[in-house]
Amino acid sequence: MSAPVSAATVVFGEALVDDFTTEQVVGGAPFNVARHLAAFMAPQLMLTRIGDDKPGLAVRAEFERFAMSEAGLQVDAIEETGRVLVERRARGSHRFTILPNQAYDFIDRAQAQAALDALAGGPPGIFYFGTLAQRHERSRATLMALLRATPALRYLDLNLRNGQADERIVTRSLQEANIAKVNEEELQAMFGWYFQIKPDAPPMAADEVHASCQALLQMFSLDALIVTLGHRGSVYFGADGQVLMHRDNPAPPFVIDTVGAGDAFSAIFLLGRMRGWPLDVSLARANEFAGAICAIPGAVPRDLGFYDQWMRKWR
Ligand SMILES: Nc1ncnc2c1ncn2[C@@H]1O[C@H](COP(=O)(O)OP(=O)(O)O)[C@@H](O)[C@H]1O
Ligand SMILES: [Mg+2]
Repeated sequence: MSAPVSAATVVFGEALVDDFTTEQVVGGAPFNVARHLAAFMAPQLMLTRIGDDKPGLAVRAEFERFAMSEAGLQVDAIEETGRVLVERRARGSHRFTILPNQAYDFIDRAQAQAALDALAGGPPGIFYFGTLAQRHERSRATLMALLRATPALRYLDLNLRNGQADERIVTRSLQEANIAKVNEEELQAMFGWYFQIKPDAPPMAADEVHASCQALLQMFSLDALIVTLGHRGSVYFGADGQVLMHRDNPAPPFVIDTVGAGDAFSAIFLLGRMRGWPLDVSLARANEFAGAICAIPGAVPRDLGFYDQWMRKWR
């Protein structure tokens, strides 16, 4: 089932702009992952759709800055590039409004399949996807068709956003995935849907959490479930019963914001898979790199020199 190491990782989903009114920052969890992979010179193909507008130019500029192929970048003549309105609120908190009906909701199946078929190095080894770009039936249908046709390992980062969580889409996504990555809140939501455990129920003991995670693995025939725990690291549950905890990763010197921490984690975990790193090495590096992303503003560094130290360290 695992594909050759040189095969590319395909990343499906939203590339968008976080609109802070005073400032526009290019984001989208999948696009964060694809940019990290590109920075590490890992072959990747970003499949997304933007509009013929100013935010679209900002997204394109990021493809250029990271020297990414635009073979999977579709341009919609009518729909607008994805935008998330961000309002700064008291005490450093933010309110996010994810606008509906954006270009990334209309990723075209034939164009995406053509980009996949033209991949240098043959079929992809890994296929990354999330749930936000499945909120509209158009991109969801495209994704399901691509998944049906690919031999790749399917990596799902659930990334539930407030108000966009749809149990049916989550269930379907888990059924399609080989490896799923969730944070604690997302795990809580899954426990609620699949085991009727309410969020206000008394906290489960560690062994009960482990048993429930093993039950999720079986329920969805997953190879692995990765739960990230913010500053407390991560736990990897393998279908073979393996449990790998990473709690002692070097802490970042300070935390500016945790935006994109999960995306950084996923990117390095997948990089490890592409490079054939041992599993516990991949997990340790994913944690350490994700921590370092918390010490810079935003999800992706403004200065590409940020990646140099990691490339040297992991050579
Ligand atoms: N405050 C923090 N300090 C150090 N590392 C962090 C911090 N927050 C997140 N991380 C790292 O990023 C990973 C993903 O963060 P988490 O918040 O669990 O995911 P998500 O961003 O998907 O909600 C963690 O497993 C950890 O490695
Ligand atoms: Mg996340």
